[in-house]
Amino acid sequence: MKRFVTLTDNQTGQSIELPVLEGQAGSPAIDIRTLYRELGLLTYDPGFLSTSSCRSKITYIDGEQGILQYRGYPIETLAQKSHFLEVAYLLLHGDLPTQEELEAFTAVIRGHTMINESLKRFYDGFYHNAHPMAVMVGVVGSLSSFYHDSTDILNPRHREIAAYRLIAKIPTIAAASYKHSIGEPFVYPRNDLGYCANLLHMMFAVPCEEYIVDPVASRALNMVFMLHMDHEQNASTSTVRLTGSSGADPFACIAAGIAALWGPAHGGANEAVLNMLEEIGDVGNIDKYLARAKDKADPFRLMGFGHRIYKNYDPRAKVLRSMCHEVLDKLGDPNDPLFELALRLEEHALSDDYFIERKLYPNVDFYSGIIYKALGIPTNMFTVMFAIARTVGWVSQWMEMITDPEQKIGRPHQVYEGHLNREYVEIEKRV
Ligand code: SDX
Repeated sequence: MKRFVTLTDNQTGQSIELPVLEGQAGSPAIDIRTLYRELGLLTYDPGFLSTSSCRSKITYIDGEQGILQYRGYPIETLAQKSHFLEVAYLLLHGDLPTQEELEAFTAVIRGHTMINESLKRFYDGFYHNAHPMAVMVGVVGSLSSFYHDSTDILNPRHREIAAYRLIAKIPTIAAASYKHSIGEPFVYPRNDLGYCANLLHMMFAVPCEEYIVDPVASRALNMVFMLHMDHEQNASTSTVRLTGSSGADPFACIAAGIAALWGPAHGGANEAVLNMLEEIGDVGNIDKYLARAKDKADPFRLMGFGHRIYKNYDPRAKVLRSMCHEVLDKLGDPNDPLFELALRLEEHALSDDYFIERKLYPNVDFYSGIIYKALGIPTNMFTVMFAIARTVGWVSQWMEMITDPEQKIGRPHQVYEGHLNREYVEIEKRV
């Protein structure tokens, strides 16, 4: 028997049966699309706590169990066994590539890593102390002005070209935003290097001496990036989908995603965590800051803690925490005081009723900055790193949205609580 729920308006006595959509996994959803037409009633759900915006086959999260799977593959397995471009292919196309498919995909990405030389002049317009995320929003958005050969988003080939260009160029654009911020010359990509090694090369190489990418650093960045590539309908992905639902240019959609990611409640949290740890400074201050996090009158929140979906340990944070030990042993300070502080902070918080009752656990942003710091990446570039990895998820979700027969332009309603029919009073009569 088909599952449905019945809604009855106690004022009109009208009822409606709404079908329940059962996915492959996760919470079933009430299909409310006929509600407004049949009952003249809307739903109200600020922040979308109980709302599904789409059907998707890309990423599955079980927040209670702390499960994350890309196209059905557990993230822990991919982080251990795979690498960035293989997971990018998986997210884009739905299956792991054969050796031949991976080689072809890698060749295409490598063929698009350079940016138009005139794009470099855009950076000169930014002051040297511009936040790199501000630069990313501007420069990625400007890509729309360069590619007129693939603007038909209804053409699958054009969509694929735009997706590949974005994945290929985002590290080059990101590295250039870093070089601009430190006054060093941009470094061209090297197509003999892997995706993450190339990024490290473009960030840290200088023209006056050879730069050898540390394989430990490249492997660590691969793992961190794989953990960040997609996360179903988070704020920035939803922004990309909503922007794309109007038929906007794909580069503009990704620029919108970067803008949304920047917020400290979202991807900006990784930078905020490092700043928070440096502000806390010492284990002796932990209780003072936990008290602030619990004080409703204090805007301070424990950055890197809590999640809308995970009411258990974020599986990505688990992998990142264990990676910290390995990376710090090989590249950083095995006794990194900030890592020690983070571990103590987690310990205190997870034994505090406030965090236990609200199921607030470390999320992906709590430990990622410790690793970025050990790789020599400055704090203001942490969210840029997140944006590089998430570009794969954004373009994958954008492609899925465009081809979804049920998708329409996103245009929510509202509950209006303002004035009505007011009379205009000339200014001289206003008091
Ligand atoms: C990311 O959506 C995604 O998937 C995002 C992401 C991805 O991969 O795309 O996973 C990446 O954005 C991770 C989250 C990074 N942000 C932070 O670490 C910032 C700190 N966290 C919080 O701002 C908060 O936890 C959110 C924004 C992450 C989630 O907010 P919700 O789901 O709206 O939860 P809420 O604000 O309603 O909190 C519920 C309760 C509240 O207390 P009460 O009103 O019930 O008394 O928990 C409290 C909140 O005050 N709370 C916190 C807290 N997080 C929630 N209190 C102190 N410190 C915190 N960090």
